Amino acid sequence: MKTLNIAGISGSLRAQSYNTSLLRAVERYAPEYGMHVDSVDIGSLPLFNEDSERTLPAAVAIFKEKIKGADGVLFITPEYNYSISGSLKNAIEWGTRPHADNSFDGKPAGIMSVSTGILGGVRAQYHLRQILVSPDVYPMNYPEVMVGLAKEKFDEAGELVDKKTQERVKEFLKEFSVWVRRFQ
Ligand code: FNR
Repeated sequence: MKTLNIAGISGSLRAQSYNTSLLRAVERYAPEYGMHVDSVDIGSLPLFNEDSERTLPAAVAIFKEKIKGADGVLFITPEYNYSISGSLKNAIEWGTRPHADNSFDGKPAGIMSVSTGILGGVRAQYHLRQILVSPDVYPMNYPEVMVGLAKEKFDEAGELVDKKTQERVKEFLKEFSVWVRRFQ
């Protein structure tokens, strides 16, 4: 069976980010489910400006190529003010531009979120689903992974130590591999 190439995007730029920590755990678990997760940096992307579309900044060109080359995209997003982070929205803007060069076009996707709050970023997930309609991205519906109370689920070194969350993430990856293969 072909190993799927998954572009993994953490929506947080914070050095000790729980969302990025979850992405690191996912990178380690993914090969067991026939996937290679390659994390894609969004922190070096400039703020989107339509004036810069004709000659894409180098970081944007690299970002777009990585998304285009992926079999699927995994978004792991924090919740900022009941939505996704501005950094993630900025990356999606670049991915979809210039017109007729949508790097995300028709790709299958997965969404996870981590929050220090009890709801685990559920509101950001639903906002992201709405945003992904325009770039014609297809997020898997189930299972859902929303990691709440992050301080209890990760240790000081950023390791995902909560067993139930580990199992949930693995269930997600098993189904995500099936979901992405449907688009091959
Ligand atoms: C937050 N946080 C937050 N949490 C939440 O559950 N719902 C929310 O609406 C918000 N809003 C919010 C806005 C801003 C600007 C910040 C900085 C934070 C808290 C958030 O879950 C927490 O900071 C996480 O640790 C962010 O994820 P990373 O950076 O650890 O991946």
